[in-house]
Amino acid sequence: MKKNLISILDIQDRIKELLRIAGEIKKKHKNGEPFTPLEGKSLGMIFEKPSTRTRISFEVGTTQLGGHALYLSPKDLQIGRGETIADTAKVLSRYVDGIMYRAFKHEMMVELAENATIPVINGLDDLEHPCQIMADLLTIREIKGTFEDQHLVYVGDGNNVCNSLLLGGAAVGMDVTACTPKGYEPNQEIFKKAQEIGKETGAVISISNSPKEAVKGTTIIYTDVWISMGDEEDEKRRLNDFEGFEVNDELVSRATEEVIVMHCLPAHRGVEISASVMDGPHSVVFDQAENRLHAQKAIMAEMMG
Ligand code: CP
Ligand code: NVA
Repeated sequence: MKKNLISILDIQDRIKELLRIAGEIKKKHKNGEPFTPLEGKSLGMIFEKPSTRTRISFEVGTTQLGGHALYLSPKDLQIGRGETIADTAKVLSRYVDGIMYRAFKHEMMVELAENATIPVINGLDDLEHPCQIMADLLTIREIKGTFEDQHLVYVGDGNNVCNSLLLGGAAVGMDVTACTPKGYEPNQEIFKKAQEIGKETGAVISISNSPKEAVKGTTIIYTDVWISMGDEEDEKRRLNDFEGFEVNDELVSRATEEVIVMHCLPAHRGVEISASVMDGPHSVVFDQAENRLHAQKAIMAEMMG
């Protein structure tokens, strides 16, 4: 059966093994050892929204695995003139060996996956960002060694990144708190699911509305933009509602001394994160960005190799 990565739930039981493989692939790459399981294969990449990291890491990653990636913009595809996503999925399935899709709507992601006969990888939609979280977990594993004694506090909007972090943290046995302003909590179903998984793995999954309380003594602080792609209309209201949620020196000083600060990027210094924290000694944001490449190579090798 073909494999998809639409949600972290799709790889829930394989996450630790995939992270191990990603670590191996990273080592090989650093040692200059070729690893080319995608020789002769192609990845179609459909981007409905802009991207720096996802686009470049998937494109470069496919090349490093011996394959070829195609950047496909809906503006240039016939989707822009009304061809359905289902027909697009069926046609692409006749040409390429996998599809990476960045979509505005999760329903479109599901529709594409249901109609494709090849693996579909979610490169972000409005509900989840699983590839980002795989890179984040790889980063945490490299720096902290284990997940079980870690507590990640996500400070900000209960968005796609937050949803996938809850599921990913739960799956690897790491405590996760989503700390958001009231009304910006993560998806309820995902939160409940993460709590259920956590009961099996020993991860405590919780919600808070107070950053100062939530980060006390924590080992990982994570933040993301307050205005995600597609939320631009709400900008003014959001900036107002998120007051007090900036990850700054004062907030970081409440955590443990060896706390790491994470951000999936792109970041806005002086909005969700202060410049001093973003560019300071606790920040691991560029390690996360690099690990997109290695984590996704493991995902592609597994799904398309
Ligand atoms: N973090 C992330 O997905 O970045 P891009 O939007 O640049 O791909
Ligand atoms: N939550 C952000 C993540 C960007 C990588 C967004 O969806 O725009």
